[in-house]
Amino acid sequence: MSDKLAHMNSDNRLKVYIETYGCQMNLADTEIVLGIMSKSGYSPTDTMNDADVVLLNTCSVREHAEEKIRQRLSTIRSQKPDKPNLVVGVLGCMAERLRSNLLDGRKVDVVVGPDEYRRLPQLLEGALAGNQGLGVRLSRTETYDDIIPFRAEGISAWISVMRGCDKFCTFCIVPFTRGRERSRTLAGVVNEVEQLVRQGIREVTLLGQNVNSYRDGEKDFADLLAAVANVEPSVRIRFTTSHPQDLSDKLIDTIAAHDNLCKYIHLPVQSGSTRVLEAMNRTYTRDHYMELAKRIRARVPGVALSTDIIAGFPTETDDEHRETLSLMEEVRYDGAYMFKYSPREGTPAYKMGDDVPEDVKTKRLSEVISLQQKISYEINESLVGRTFEVMVDGTSRKSDEQLSGRTDTNKTVVFPRGTQKPGDVVKVKIDRVSMATLFGEVVCIHN
Ligand code: 5AD
Ligand code: SF4
Repeated sequence: MSDKLAHMNSDNRLKVYIETYGCQMNLADTEIVLGIMSKSGYSPTDTMNDADVVLLNTCSVREHAEEKIRQRLSTIRSQKPDKPNLVVGVLGCMAERLRSNLLDGRKVDVVVGPDEYRRLPQLLEGALAGNQGLGVRLSRTETYDDIIPFRAEGISAWISVMRGCDKFCTFCIVPFTRGRERSRTLAGVVNEVEQLVRQGIREVTLLGQNVNSYRDGEKDFADLLAAVANVEPSVRIRFTTSHPQDLSDKLIDTIAAHDNLCKYIHLPVQSGSTRVLEAMNRTYTRDHYMELAKRIRARVPGVALSTDIIAGFPTETDDEHRETLSLMEEVRYDGAYMFKYSPREGTPAYKMGDDVPEDVKTKRLSEVISLQQKISYEINESLVGRTFEVMVDGTSRKSDEQLSGRTDTNKTVVFPRGTQKPGDVVKVKIDRVSMATLFGEVVCIHN
């Protein structure tokens, strides 16, 4: 142990600050990293100013995400003159993708990829003594099953149940930065949910790049969901992300059978054109996806669907772009995450070139966004007059006099503050809506 670490441990523990970018997996990983760090004598802080160690947990999925990190690193570095001992680290997908390149120029002291977080305390100890550290090996087995994540107080918790991705969609860097698929044990996940419930957690989200590939021996993701749902029927269970090829009828029936499995499925389609889907290596056709969406709607009444869409994938024509718009009209998603294609070096699509001109990409993306906004608004409008069970999250972002919560279909509902606490479930009758929010009055309280 370095002198500095030994000294600080005896009275004032070294403080670590983590900024998290990208997907929910990264948010969950940050909690795992903080779990590892607290066990090694660090104390988490949520202000960068008191930190001895600043870590950025990064995303590589689009170039824009990486640019933001580069700028952030420069800003942090420019503060370094008055903080000569500050240790700066890069974690996550960008660490894995750029590896030792990130150490060049000595802007960064440690670079640690998603499967090497157990080595962080050791690498940071080296960094505190002035040595740069690199940990970017990918693992076929690491699931951090035994690590107790450090969670901020609240009513919701994330649990990553599987890591990595074997799908190799041609545009996606994730299989290269997060490695091969591997799952935690069913017993380990259930045990963690039981503990969280004892601590007062009211909502659990099971996470994985492709949760439908979850496996523990004979048990699949539907078995895991059922087991988790049975832990405590009043605790809401969510999950993300589902790949359309692996979403089984068994899973659909499991969601339908348990009241506390939220009726909300994020089912990325990426494109409405079978030809583009093939070029993306998505392994399903437009027809397969449409049938799946119909089956889900038929068996899970009231279900909300959301999706991811990429505009301007290489070789995408105007007609193929219109197929995406028409699929959106047919499925009528409650929400969507919509992106311009961003070429990622090392992916198969990168070799196809980036042949859709920027202005065409921009136009296609804006068409996709406006259509989704219109559909989201229309769906919300059709809910006026209906009453929903809303789990309270806390104060509304816009007004202290309003509370905000979510329906099990993941819609945000804002209503006048009463005596409700986060985690309570209230019935709210909707009287007006916007594209992203439902507004209403409480009609009855339980819990
Ligand atoms: N360009 C644009 N969007 C991408 N995504 C993944 N890779 C890229 C890329 N290269 C999107 C996909 C995925 C979501 C997490 O990010 O839509 O589902
Ligand atoms: Fe990327 Fe496709 Fe895996 Fe999702 S399923 S992480 S888009 S490779």
